[in-house]
Amino acid sequence: MSAIQDNEGAIIFAMPSNEALAHELVSAFGKEAAWEYGRLQYRQFPDGESNLRYLDEIANRDVILVCSLDKPDQKIMPLYFAACIAKELGARSVGLVLPYLAYMRQDACFNPGEGITSAHFARLISKICDWMVTVDPHLHRHHDLSEIYTIPSLVVQAAPSIAQWITSNVSLPVLVGPDEESAQWVAAVANLATCPYTVLNKVRLGDHEVQVSVPDTDLWQGMTPVLVDDIASTARTMMAAAGHLKKAGMAPPICIAVHALFAEDAYERLLAENVAQVVSCDTVLHSSNQISMAAALAVGVKEMLQNMRK
Ligand code: R5P
Repeated sequence: MSAIQDNEGAIIFAMPSNEALAHELVSAFGKEAAWEYGRLQYRQFPDGESNLRYLDEIANRDVILVCSLDKPDQKIMPLYFAACIAKELGARSVGLVLPYLAYMRQDACFNPGEGITSAHFARLISKICDWMVTVDPHLHRHHDLSEIYTIPSLVVQAAPSIAQWITSNVSLPVLVGPDEESAQWVAAVANLATCPYTVLNKVRLGDHEVQVSVPDTDLWQGMTPVLVDDIASTARTMMAAAGHLKKAGMAPPICIAVHALFAEDAYERLLAENVAQVVSCDTVLHSSNQISMAAALAVGVKEMLQNMRK
């Protein structure tokens, strides 16, 4: 890829359902960044195949595609085509803004005969674009995106935005991470919100079954428990932790997820537990979205464009 000469004239396209975030990115810096909202037409042929058409000139421009990758299998083909067509039409560079990066949890072979699909997915994404910006990818057995992605990538942290929400909305918070993997997010949020935190132990017994350790809550009576996790999928992790807090006589917890996947009826099930509120960042469109990541993502995109210029 030829080096990006400047970040003037980057043109941002939304994949379906990502229009709001794409607009927010365009307007994040006002005229300072001179980003433009581009029109990308998407439709399906009667047989279900995708048809994409750029309605703006993109030759010699820095093209940015915005696409959250929840339910990734139905989104990856249109994204693949959008990136390939942009190159075919002469885009100077193609960058991806992926607020939720899929397949990161499949970072090991859990059963004989499986594969490390996070690495296969990374190879696919790395082939179609020049850079990527995402929010808190699930880094567990992979410690850094560069272990599996060969393109430059930048990770935007949700912790400052979550901490700000907690500071403005919760009195006497105590943060609870439901498993060891959540320690990285919970510690960062607690540090920024200057409140105590603890991390539980979790054993996953199946897709819909988890066991979470019982927290020691003696010091927290009278405080507001806030469960923080990167992903809520079946929500069984949050439900198990909320159940323990209830048994311990704590107030109903506020549940915060960075990525609100909420598969099947998970959201309704979680709300039916003894929880005060369910809140999420807007990396995946969901009715629980209350914490905007647009401003932080815009800073990340600007930084990435500047890095590519060097
Ligand atoms: C675990 O590895 C993640 O950090 C989350 O705790 C997990 O993805 C939550 O999954 P679920 O909502 O299905 O319990």
